[in-house]
Amino acid sequence: MNFLTGFKDRTALVTGGGRGIGRATSILLAQLGTKVAVNYVSNDNAAKQTLIEIKSRGGEAFLIKGDVSKQEDVDRIVKETMEQYQAIDILVNCAGVIGYGAIEEASKSDWDRNIRINMTGTFLMCKAVVPIMKMKHYGKIVNMSSLAGVTAGMSSVHYSASKAGVMGFTRRLAVELAPYGIATNCVAPGMIETDMVSHRLATLEGRKRVEQMHPVGRIGSPHEVACLIAYLASQEAGFIIGETVNINGGRFVG
Ligand SMILES: NC(=O)c1ccc[n+]([C@@H]2O[C@H](COP(=O)([O-])OP(=O)(O)OC[C@H]3O[C@@H](n4cnc5c(N)ncnc54)[C@H](O)[C@@H]3O)[C@@H](O)[C@H]2O)c1
Repeated sequence: MNFLTGFKDRTALVTGGGRGIGRATSILLAQLGTKVAVNYVSNDNAAKQTLIEIKSRGGEAFLIKGDVSKQEDVDRIVKETMEQYQAIDILVNCAGVIGYGAIEEASKSDWDRNIRINMTGTFLMCKAVVPIMKMKHYGKIVNMSSLAGVTAGMSSVHYSASKAGVMGFTRRLAVELAPYGIATNCVAPGMIETDMVSHRLATLEGRKRVEQMHPVGRIGSPHEVACLIAYLASQEAGFIIGETVNINGGRFVG
């Protein structure tokens, strides 16, 4: 008996699935039996590698290029996913960017980029997919916040603001959609070993400093976050609505 159900004969759309947490999530969902539309925006080779990994483990997936912050791309991503799989039961909004620097150094375009991709991208994807889920009276939406949305974080006001925004957005959307059989939640990871933060871990000294910030004494893996996302996307998590689930190696309690 499987501990978690709700993946077989289901379809997922994972944004930012070409690498990092999105890639790990796409691979895991496919392994669990879900057909996965893997969205990516650049780096075709990384996206192809995700697809190769899914197929080599016997999973079903296809790649779909597009920018989640552009309405026309979002419409096309959703249309092509529906043409390919005739359903979107699980939406995982992993696409994201980060920004650094104090407020004096931050340009308006830095601010706009973080808000546009992290927040508006999440809004546009949810808005496009919700009618499809409502028709089926079934859906799981997992958005991506961050420790930086819950605490001050280590990056910038624009990143923190965008990730805190995702939490507020998720709470409100969850209440709107729960009566339609759609569960909406978000996850807030601490430092996870991906390209997004690789520069912070590039030197042994930098890596040690970051590791010591976590009571577990290490950085998280994309697979660990993917497991949490998969749980929230499972049938068994249906009583969890509008939550931000933290996954940060004890940063809050250490
Ligand atoms: N790595 C961490 O420590 C960490 C911690 C907390 C939250 N997060 C969040 O997790 C998510 C995944 O990040 P990651 O760590 O895997 O980093 P990553 O940089 O490896 O992955 C982000 C992905 O989003 C894609 N993307 C960026 N802009 C896009 C757009 N406009 N349209 C479509 N795709 C776009 C990128 O191409 C990339 O594939 C992000 O939302 C990030 O903010 C990461």
